[in-house]
Amino acid sequence: MTLPTLLTRDHRECDELLSNALGHAQAGRWAEAESSFSQFCDRVEAHFGAEESILFVRFEQATGMTHGPTAVMRSEHEAVREALDRINDAILERDANAVFGEGDALFILLQQHNLKEENILYPAAERAAGGDAASLEADMREAITDPASTAHRRQ
Ligand SMILES: [Fe+2]
Ligand SMILES: [Fe+2]
Repeated sequence: MTLPTLLTRDHRECDELLSNALGHAQAGRWAEAESSFSQFCDRVEAHFGAEESILFVRFEQATGMTHGPTAVMRSEHEAVREALDRINDAILERDANAVFGEGDALFILLQQHNLKEENILYPAAERAAGGDAASLEADMREAITDPASTAHRRQ
């Protein structure tokens, strides 16, 4: 699998988990909403962590661009994390209006972020990796499926 294919597929799977969580909230199934939202947050955090600690770092090292696209992506990750905290609070408070308002905004934020990565950054990172593209894909695959391994390696 190529790097863009791997990470695009992970984006789609995360989207699906978010839809599930919002669907449960919409139906008033709050316990299910809580557990599927926390599943979604874990997957997003694994994905973001892998990008921040592996993909972005290697792109920055290969291109020398530390204030370019990766800086924008890192700041968008922070905006998403803040939205996740707000939605989590709204779910715990059983505040349906806040969950839907924040949930819709998060969907849009994520779609815009993901499209930039899928169309621009992932292909550029793959090109920048050159002959190391396959090992970069393998490292990213391991990090998104087993985040603890990345956390361990980072130390
Ligand atoms: Fe990202
Ligand atoms: Fe991503």
